[in-house]
Amino acid sequence: MANKAKLEALLTLINTSARDAITLYEQHGGNVPSMDQVESHPLDDAVDQVALKTAIRTLEGAFAQLSTTLAPPAHSAINLVQVYDYACMRVAVRENITNILVNYPKGIHVNDLSKIINIEPKKLARVMRLLATRGCYNEVDMDVFANNRLSMILHNENPVRHMVNLHVESCAKGAAVFYDTLKDPRTAYSYEPTHAPFMYANNKEGIQGEFFDFMRQDDERRESYHKSMRGLNGIMGSLAVLTHFPFEKYSTVVDVGGGIGAFSLPLAKTHKNVKITIHDLPEALVQARSIWAKDCPEAVAENRVEFEALNFFEQVPAKGKDIYYLRNIIHDWPDHESALILRNVRQALGPNSRVLIHDYVVRQLSRKQAEVESSTLGAVVAPEPLLPNFGVGNMRMYQQDMSMLLLHNAKERTLQESLALSTAAGLKLEKVWDLAEACVLEFSAA
Ligand SMILES: C[S@@+](CC[C@H](N)C(=O)[O-])C[C@H]1O[C@@H](n2cnc3c(N)ncnc32)[C@H](O)[C@@H]1O
Repeated sequence: MANKAKLEALLTLINTSARDAITLYEQHGGNVPSMDQVESHPLDDAVDQVALKTAIRTLEGAFAQLSTTLAPPAHSAINLVQVYDYACMRVAVRENITNILVNYPKGIHVNDLSKIINIEPKKLARVMRLLATRGCYNEVDMDVFANNRLSMILHNENPVRHMVNLHVESCAKGAAVFYDTLKDPRTAYSYEPTHAPFMYANNKEGIQGEFFDFMRQDDERRESYHKSMRGLNGIMGSLAVLTHFPFEKYSTVVDVGGGIGAFSLPLAKTHKNVKITIHDLPEALVQARSIWAKDCPEAVAENRVEFEALNFFEQVPAKGKDIYYLRNIIHDWPDHESALILRNVRQALGPNSRVLIHDYVVRQLSRKQAEVESSTLGAVVAPEPLLPNFGVGNMRMYQQDMSMLLLHNAKERTLQESLALSTAAGLKLEKVWDLAEACVLEFSAA
């Protein structure tokens, strides 16, 4: 394709994908959203966002590819590093700015906000203006800021806020020493979870162990971590699995490392036919029980859910159940530990059991490889001239891969890497469910 034709094709992709998204908003609620509205749109909380995410993947990928092609390279290079969004988001989250702004629907002057949170007003105005320029908060008048649909996500009742918190605190801390860990002979070639950059930074403060040891030491920190998993439902659109995978055909599901039940709780509400076992560490299950008693007491009363403490490195999950679901589990661990978990899961399987691994599947930038994966496994390839992995449209899987490296010395995996692990554990791939952002890999016993 000639260079100019490529740009024209990207423009067409932007146009069609944006129109697809607009149509979806109209179908779900009549109006398309605007940057200055505070109310959420019905589509924001839809369980199945695959169609919207499919459109946004192309829109973001095509838009970034077009602007990077047309902008001077020096402009794009500095855009890659001059990123302080997370530092400003940290201020907003730590100071509960969204909750405060709820009391000022017409906006609050930054001088008045400054008095409430004790941050120097001119510095605060710069933080707020950067975020408003990104679309998070509105500057409704000079130095007067109000909430909008995006900033409302930071409200302290929204679980996404806990995932924001994990990134601005722990991932940022690991990122600050990442290069040092690549060069320090003690950590450079290590894949020990105790050598993850975040723990390397913690070691300097006298804190040892791996990420989950760190979480275990403080109730509030651990509870926030588990709540952040409910936020992941919306961030990754993971609950689409409830409408795409035929859970109605099965009667038992084991949520391995299920935490507080960020997946299982919606499963219990939508598929009353299913009996659920949640396996996790004992302290996670204490929190899980109290959340289920409040948010899904009917499942508890009807014995549709059981909470069983299990260390997935040392113990085999409940045997002979229909589905073993592992969401955001394997990506937390390097290969050695992941293999242990999968071998234990394999021992639990009956002849008709299925294992579902729900994580990102890291895409290749080789079109040839992407097309092999598409024809043999059904993974979606981006249309030309988009990069075959959808470019920036799939950026979060590469960012999340870095988050796993920074926190756990672990990784998101390519399809080949996942297959190598699962085949060695005695699992056979049956199907790839591409849910537009993450994928579900369905396995049977080999
Ligand atoms: C990233 S969270 C995922 C939680 C859940 N699957 C979800 O998607 O919402 C990882 C989970 O693994 C659990 N975990 C960590 N180490 C474990 C172990 N040795 N045995 C069992 N669970 C463990 C954590 O407590 C946490 O709930």
